[in-house]
Amino acid sequence: MKNSNSRRDFLKKSAALATLLMAAQKGVLGTIANASTSKSAIENNSLNFFEENVKTSEDGKFLLPILPYSFDALEPHIDKLTMEIHYSKHHQAYVTNLNKALETIDPSILGGIPTFDNIFDKVAKLPPAVRNNAGGHYNHSLFWILMLSNTDKHPTGKLADAINDTYGTFDEFKKQFSDLSMKRFGSGWAWLVVNKGKLVMGSTANQDNPLMNLDSVEIKGTPVLALDLWEHAYYLKNQNRRAEYIASWWNVVNWEVAESLFLSAK
Ligand SMILES: [Fe+2]
Repeated sequence: MKNSNSRRDFLKKSAALATLLMAAQKGVLGTIANASTSKSAIENNSLNFFEENVKTSEDGKFLLPILPYSFDALEPHIDKLTMEIHYSKHHQAYVTNLNKALETIDPSILGGIPTFDNIFDKVAKLPPAVRNNAGGHYNHSLFWILMLSNTDKHPTGKLADAINDTYGTFDEFKKQFSDLSMKRFGSGWAWLVVNKGKLVMGSTANQDNPLMNLDSVEIKGTPVLALDLWEHAYYLKNQNRRAEYIASWWNVVNWEVAESLFLSAK
């Protein structure tokens, strides 16, 4: 590293992150990231939060990011057990399996240390395990910060204006987004993205996302909203009732984060 201050900062941040992750893995997340502290962290600096916590360790391994609220923070809309298993088991598995899969590839394919950017750009040349697990890691990292309890339940500001300009009304936007989420066959994700300055909605299969440089991914752009449509996101509470889960999710969308993503994408 070029200067010692940068290296010191990096090590300090890594140590702090490791401590928080260990605490999270011990199941004490609720005590270190209660709803009120996480709310202000997310609302005040959501994108920095994403960048600070979704990263690799010094040896280039991807890490499970901090969940920015307690497992029960989204009750009654998203239940505690689902959140705990979704984050601690499913998301952790994507991170673990991504690191394993990256050990099997020639590093020169990526042209540097693995990042979401170079993985998604070169994804067509990479094994399915890298595609699936990198997508799973990125998608879930975004999904967590796009939810919050006690939200206003509707967009405001420039994102609200863009939604109204594109879809007529917020209710019409919700209807179209819910409909396409219902139509995604099997597992996948629903997205609202910015593409060339315009809002576009669509869905992807499995753990694909709109940042992947793949012809088979029909929706391209910078994500503003992400909705997990895998049954593991709702089966424990809603069983097979995806419509019920989608209706619940609208109650916890973090529109401030969505607007931050929208503004930074334009
Ligand atoms: Fe998921």
